[in-house]
Amino acid sequence: MSSIKNTRILDVLNGIPVDKTPVWIMRQAGRYLPEYKKTRAEAGSFLDLCKSPELASEVTIQPIRRFDLDAAIIFSDILTIPDAMGLELKFEDNRGPYFDNPLNNNDEVSVLNDKNIDALEYVAEAIIHTKEKLNNEVPLIGFSGSPWTLSTYMVEGSATKEFRKVRSIVFNNPDMLNMLTKKLVESISKYLIMQAKAGADVLMIFDSWGGLLNTDNYINFSLNPMKQIINNLRNDKITKNKPIILFTKGGGIWLNQISKSGCNAIGLDWTINISAARKIVGENISLQGNLDPCALHGSDESIKQAASKILDDYGFGHRHIFNLGHGIDQYVNPDNLKILINHVKEYSKKFHKN
Ligand code: CP3
Repeated sequence: MSSIKNTRILDVLNGIPVDKTPVWIMRQAGRYLPEYKKTRAEAGSFLDLCKSPELASEVTIQPIRRFDLDAAIIFSDILTIPDAMGLELKFEDNRGPYFDNPLNNNDEVSVLNDKNIDALEYVAEAIIHTKEKLNNEVPLIGFSGSPWTLSTYMVEGSATKEFRKVRSIVFNNPDMLNMLTKKLVESISKYLIMQAKAGADVLMIFDSWGGLLNTDNYINFSLNPMKQIINNLRNDKITKNKPIILFTKGGGIWLNQISKSGCNAIGLDWTINISAARKIVGENISLQGNLDPCALHGSDESIKQAASKILDDYGFGHRHIFNLGHGIDQYVNPDNLKILINHVKEYSKKFHKN
């Protein structure tokens, strides 16, 4: 049994009524917070911050101190897995994360190490530290990138404009992509189990680039591998009952298929109306989202209006976790986020019976 005090998010994920709509924010630990910038400077670099359990746990709880959030998400990055597999992750401030030697052929995939999850022990340690600091106030979300989204970075080397190289490999060397996907399914499953064992209460898979694919290829190269991961998690005693959130950016057109993946909740980007999404997925699955992150650059009134619109559109019911449709950006004024969170807390009460 969990001894967590604020169980709203866990309740929503398990279909249990709540008093108000819970809220957390993708990328809630990040550069829009001055205290994050300070700790990052102390760490020396973004990667040093990720690899220091003490400092990573500190930035994980910074947004919890500042805002009335219903969950923390462990501070890390999705690209730690390719790093552990042997593609050395690098980071430059004006460039973001990148790999010097992205994958070109089957031979390069075949030497990747999918048994090296121990190299990510620093993430488990960060989770253990964070759980101590959270003192059971709110649940902690662990996460991984999806096989397809990790493949895009591993093949392209970084986030590119068109993703032409990886999108071409889908057609001109599917064997290479299948081999890579298989290794990633293996690593990601073990990585998520490791995070749960260390104390993560919820697991989320970020499929940030699933929306680049056509429907058949989305099913083949993104959704089916994510389903295999979910199956692996359901077959392990540590993760058997852990709630799983699956977020495909651009996935609004595939909600019906995603809702059959075995996940507890689907993360929505801001392009789909949440009421329409609810009709498609039904009442046995939760929805997370889906405010346009740029709404946070509006006036106080327009922020509240935009949030109310989403809560009104979802309507009565307890299977909604409020979030943005993608990560918060570095230029947001933290005071605006506070206005949003407090408004969601207050305004959403009317949609829940007390
Ligand atoms: O949500 C949280 O608070 C946890 C932290 C978190 C980070 N990255 C920290 C981060 C999470 C969940 C991620 C996931 C991640 N990383 C994704 C999937 C989610 C999404 O946004 O689609 C992706 C695609 C990445 C890869 C990545 N990491 C990119 C493309 C970048 C550069 C873009 C940017 O915002 O600078 C990063 C860097 C990164 N990851 C930062 C943070 C706080 C900014 C780094 C900095 O401090 O300079």
